[in-house]
Amino acid sequence: MKNEMRLTLLCVPSNVAVARIAVATFAASLGFSVSEIEEIKVAVSEAVSNSILHAYPRGEGEVTVLATSGNSGSYQGELVVEVRDCGVGIPDIAKAKEPGYSTIPEHMGLGLSFMESFMDNLSLESAPGKGTTVRMVKRPCRQ
Ligand SMILES: Nc1ncnc2c1ncn2[C@@H]1O[C@H](COP(=O)(O)OP(=O)(O)O)[C@@H](O)[C@H]1O
Ligand SMILES: [Mg+2]
Repeated sequence: MKNEMRLTLLCVPSNVAVARIAVATFAASLGFSVSEIEEIKVAVSEAVSNSILHAYPRGEGEVTVLATSGNSGSYQGELVVEVRDCGVGIPDIAKAKEPGYSTIPEHMGLGLSFMESFMDNLSLESAPGKGTTVRMVKRPCRQ
């Protein structure tokens, strides 16, 4: 069955947990195992944290989390999560994806690597001044 959730949050740290729990609850009916749900939670937390930490260095902004499942044409149990902001954007996407790369000193620079390894597919769209969209897809293993 097709389902969709759209959640727009102010970019404040406490909303990482709101997004993580909302997507985990959304995904729970799609046949994912407990450990797969944990992986989804990490990936969503990292994506939303990036919008909170990096997208709006000069002030307030919003992040939208869109979760969809069972779209026509796609695998029925597939979860698609998009995390979008309208912030500063990423000038060099390939560099940002390198493990250990961060523009904030003392940050681990592993968020995008975690998203890539915990989800089946990750795509990153971003342009300086226009914002960033991370799109992640995951299918339950046991189906
Ligand atoms: N939503 C975003 N808006 C602006 N820059 C971003 C965003 N997401 C990621 N980045 C850039 O990509 C880099 C790498 O991100 P990530 O792998 O999560 O590491 P970290 O968050 O620890 O820096 C960040 O340091 C930042 O420069
Ligand atoms: Mg990060």
